[in-house]
Amino acid sequence: MVSSEQDLTHLISYVRSLGKIPPEPIVGDAARGSKIYAQNKCSACHIVAGQGSGFGPELTEIASRRSVSYLRDSITRPAAALPEGFLMIEAKLQSRQTIRGIRANEDPFTIQIKDSAGHFHSLRKSNITTLNKLRGQSPMPAYKMPVADLDDLVTYIASLGAKP
Ligand code: HEC
Repeated sequence: MVSSEQDLTHLISYVRSLGKIPPEPIVGDAARGSKIYAQNKCSACHIVAGQGSGFGPELTEIASRRSVSYLRDSITRPAAALPEGFLMIEAKLQSRQTIRGIRANEDPFTIQIKDSAGHFHSLRKSNITTLNKLRGQSPMPAYKMPVADLDDLVTYIASLGAKP
């Protein structure tokens, strides 16, 4: 029950905040950011407009889902900004093989893991001796770079979805 005009204003801004990402000023140079993306070999794990490899999430339309500050965090502190449902797995098998990668799917009897080469492993849990869920871990390195470079890189990523 909304009791006052002020409550109503708060409610409206809350409901608005659910649906969209608040606009934040982006100050960098996207063209230079694209070079920084290439130099750091981000495409070894990410796909942008069909280019790259898909171990990590596709980045082409990421700006429609993520705020600028989240994008910054995901580059400098990847483990602090994990996408929903993201989980690293280490499975030791009866065959003594160890498989590490990102959980793609899991049910009570099987688990599917995508390794860093992009290969999928579908494992029966009855063949697994130890299943470690590496919560809060990311295979993405934490990047350290000058603030100006980070601004340009984030501007580039944020500009991707805007292209036709
Ligand atoms: C070794 C593979 C690897 C490399 C190299 C890598 N990433 Fe990632 N990246 C990942 C994985 C896996 C995730 C998902 C887990 C996470 O958020 O840490 C991710 C997540 C992200 C996210 C957040 C995605 C989302 O949906 O929340 C962004 C943005 C990102 N990476 C940008 C970059 C940029 C820019 C570079 C280059 C400077 C880079 N990554 C290099 C593997 C990598």
